Amino acid sequence: MKPKIYSTYSIPVQVKDYMAQYCDIREWHGDGRTPRDILLEEIADVEGLYTGGSSMVGRIDEELLNHAPHLKVISNVSVGYNNFDVDAMTKRNVIGTNTPYVLDETVADLAFALILSTARRITELDRFVKEGSWKPTTNYREIYGKDVHSTTLGIIGMGRIGEAIARRAKFGFNMDVLYFNRNRKQAAEEKYGAEYCDLTSLLTRSDYIVLMTPLTPETFQIIGKEEFKLMKKSAVFINISRGQTVDEQALIHALQNGEIHGAGLDVFEKEPVDPTNPLLQMSNVVTVPHIGSATARTEAAMAMRAAENLVAVLTGKEPIDPVGK
Ligand code: DGY
Repeated sequence: MKPKIYSTYSIPVQVKDYMAQYCDIREWHGDGRTPRDILLEEIADVEGLYTGGSSMVGRIDEELLNHAPHLKVISNVSVGYNNFDVDAMTKRNVIGTNTPYVLDETVADLAFALILSTARRITELDRFVKEGSWKPTTNYREIYGKDVHSTTLGIIGMGRIGEAIARRAKFGFNMDVLYFNRNRKQAAEEKYGAEYCDLTSLLTRSDYIVLMTPLTPETFQIIGKEEFKLMKKSAVFINISRGQTVDEQALIHALQNGEIHGAGLDVFEKEPVDPTNPLLQMSNVVTVPHIGSATARTEAAMAMRAAENLVAVLTGKEPIDPVGK
């Protein structure tokens, strides 16, 4: 008998065909992801869980693990795995996996999409044109943006995605690249001339700041009131990591009080973001709904990688992308 697995969303067909050779699949066919209460019932007999971080699914924690006594592997279809309680999983010998590498370039593209659209006021001016405000009398000085090329970019978190951003910055936009990271990244320094600096120095010197660090206890609200105060008044702040790496109230305060110029946000403290969140009312803030890796090609590659990880564990092999401490 094949091991049973549950997926919190409907798996792309090709990926499902591959997985079906090795396991019996049950999946959620409703909107979004499986709601938590249903998930807790569905996992009672499964050995594998195929999922991703989402507010509907909730955390992979003691409560969830208590409902899944046969679980061997949880395969996250995402690179971030802050939704895992790794300690609780380790205690029960449940292996967690993620999907690195395959999304690096796509997320780096989004970093630049947010940099450019915030700097050049693309979403604001798109509305301006579409609502008929562009007139022969339009005062262009009022719609000037900021240059991106030949400025300084600060990257907080120089992992693989950070490096892909640095490459675009250096060769596409002739930017000087500063970075802050747990450890020095020789390759980024040699290839992109990236300069390693402490956080204070990065924040004070950068024109654009991209936060790209995983969410861990060390990076929780790594950017808060004091950090925004250090930034240039002309600085643009981009977050494509996780909402909790920023003190969102401090970000709102910094934007409302002109401490920084603008922000581009893919992630929020609470997702989906509350429609009354003041960030959504600000014309100098560009927002997207956590779409870092959301292109058809990359999502398909992530789905397949997650499937390979899951199948590896269920067939007694080492997964390609185990996560842990
Ligand atoms: C991930 O995979 O963790 C990212 O949030 C993708 O957007």
